[in-house]
Parts: sequence; structure tokens; C-alpha cells
Amino acid sequence: PTTRKQNRVSQYRFNPRASHYKVTILGAAGGIGEPLSLLIKMSPLVSEVRLYDIANVKGITADLSHCNTPAQVRGFNGTSQLADSLRGADLVVVPAGVPRKPGMTRDDLFSVNASIVKGLIEAVAENCPQAFIHIISNPLNSTVPIAAEVMKQKGVYDPKKLFGVTTLDVVRSNTFVAQRKNLRLIDVDVPVVGGHSGSTILPLLSKTRPLVTFTDKEVEELTAKIQNAGTEVVEAKEGEGSATLSMAYAAARFVESSLRAKDGDADVYECAYVQSNLTELAFFASRVKLGRKGVEALISSDLQGLTEYEAEILEALKPQLKANIEKGIAFVQKQP
Ligand code: NAD
Ligand code: LMR
Repeated sequence: PTTRKQNRVSQYRFNPRASHYKVTILGAAGGIGEPLSLLIKMSPLVSEVRLYDIANVKGITADLSHCNTPAQVRGFNGTSQLADSLRGADLVVVPAGVPRKPGMTRDDLFSVNASIVKGLIEAVAENCPQAFIHIISNPLNSTVPIAAEVMKQKGVYDPKKLFGVTTLDVVRSNTFVAQRKNLRLIDVDVPVVGGHSGSTILPLLSKTRPLVTFTDKEVEELTAKIQNAGTEVVEAKEGEGSATLSMAYAAARFVESSLRAKDGDADVYECAYVQSNLTELAFFASRVKLGRKGVEALISSDLQGLTEYEAEILEALKPQLKANIEKGIAFVQKQP
């Protein structure tokens, strides 16, 4: 039942009594931010959707506000309005920052996006430290440790409420597995662990639900396809950015799951990149159980009984993910 609940686009069900959460999107006028704003405006759990960007918010706000779903729409344009966009927010989504062009790695975005994320999370720490924070900006392996370090410096870090959004890796895995094995999409759930870049993305195909058997060739091809899916989109867009629509869809699913958990649903599981003790790495993506206060439990059972192939990838990804994490932490600690 959990798999079906997550895979269904639940936003379409109208329930005005349930709408009471305020959600702020930082980077709302971007390629991800715009469609994500629309999907969040459709959520029955949201009473207010706040759109913040450094430019171009006014038109999007007017446009979105005409949709007859319950959430109020408020626009905040420019840094002077950042604090107002955050005060009282229950959940903050961060898709702000530059996307890749062909030939770039996600880590190549660090030089620009690290400062953007740092600045925005400082404002979150000052104005809504209790909010759930969903980081989308790349390189995710480093931007989440940056956010954690900023919150620590401000004395308001709650590791249970800080998430790197890796839902797109799960969405892709579910889609590709269902297509390959001719399964109904709504039934398929593949846990994806590790990080969110190339070979740090580890889909645990052996843990696919429902139980599916794959040949070695299928496992290798599907793993490569999932790890490379972001790059496939970057190349297809030929310099015009990276995944936006599938990312907005995935981020909306993660927002919806988080709000359902906040609202008391006791059966909410998602993969996310969070502070973790499942491995020796300080941050690690795994399935987590979500509750009213954020992460309630990390699901360790997915990492037991791995195939030899999965265990090898897991060991191989650790040095890279560790370096990405350390780079993020050092970036904040080095600042005056
Ligand atoms: P985009 O360039 O279309 O939009 C980014 C938006 O961020 C722009 O509107 C820009 O004005 C805004 N912005 C820049 N600096 C800002 C600041 N200081 N405060 C607020 N807003 C600011 O890019 P996009 O396609 O929406 O991608 C955004 C980010 O998401 C990229 O870093 C991309 O790599 C990442 N991404 C992550 C995933 C994932 O799975 N986690 C998937 C796709 C994209
Ligand atoms: C993705 O996986 O689509 C994102 O991380 C964007 C990218 O640069 O590939």
C-alpha cells in the first residue's frame, strides 16, 4: 500500500479541510521552481505557497494565483523579501542555483551553487529554523553538508529535518524497471542509496518490490541507465539546462510525502540523502521513515544481503562521496 500511495499523483484529490501547511520555494522562477510551484499549489495539504526568487516572481505569482485550488499564492522578489518568504514556513524547498551544461559534472556547479545554498540556508536558520528543508541544488552530495554546517553554526541544526532530494533517482528507477520488466508502474519501488551523482547513485535492484529477478546483464544495463539519466537529459537539452519536469514531479512527491508524515500518517517511507549512521559516511541516501518531526528512522535492512555487484559499487562510491561531503563542510568552515 505504501508503494502505491507514493507512486500515485495524490495532488488531484481535493480536501479543503486538510490544507494547512505553508511551503516556500527558493528559486521558484527557475526551470524546476515553476512547475514545482504549480504541483505544490495543487496539494490538498498546502494552505500557502510562497514563491521566492532573485527576479521574475511577479508574473508567475499572478499566473499561479488564478488556479482554483485552496492554497494562497504569495510572491517574494529579491533579497529584501527573502526573510518574509520564510517566516512561519513549515517546509522550504531549495531548487536555486545553476544547472549543468553538456560536458560538466555536478561537482563543476560547486563554485556557484555552494554560495547560493549557504546564503539561503542562513536565511532559513534565521527565520524558520523548525521547517523541513528539502535541498535540490547540485552538487547535492556537497550542498546538503553545507546546509547542515550552516545550521550548526547558527545553533539550530536538526538533522531529522534536513533532506537532500534524491526522489528523482527512485522515480527514474521505478520507470525504467517497470518498462524493462513489463510491470505496472504504480506497483514498482526500487530503493536507491548512496549519493546523487554518477557512480555514487546505487539503485538496489535486488530489493525491488514486488520481487523481480534480473539477469546480470539487465542489472548492469539498468544501473548504468539510472546513474546516467541526469546526463542523458543534459545532453538532450543541448546546453539549455538539466531535468526540470521530472525533477519537479519528484520534488512534489517528496513534499507531499513529508507533509503527509507531518500530518500524522504513520506509513510514509521515501529515499533521501540525510545525516546517517548506516555506513561510515556522515551523509548517505537510504530509505527513511518519515514522521511528524522529520526522519523517524533510517531503514538499514535494505543494506543487508546485497548482491556482490551492489556491495562492490557501495564500497567503490564511498571515497568519492566522502570527498564531496568534506568539500561541503570545509567550504562553510573556511568562511570568515
Ligand atoms: P534554473 O537556472 O532554471 O533555475 C534556477 C533558479 O534559481 C533561477 O530562477 C535563479 O534566478 C534562481 N536563483 C539563483 N540564485 C538564487 C538565489 N541566491 N536565491 C534564490 N534563487 C536563486 O535551474 P534548474 O533547472 O531549476 O535547476 C536548479 C538546480 O537544481 C541546479 O543546481 C540543478 O543541478 C539542480 N537539480 C537537481 C536535481 C536533483 O535530483 N536533486 C535534479 C535536477 C536539477
Ligand atoms: C539530475 O539527476 O537530473 C540532476 O542532478 C541534474 C543533473 O545535472 O543531472
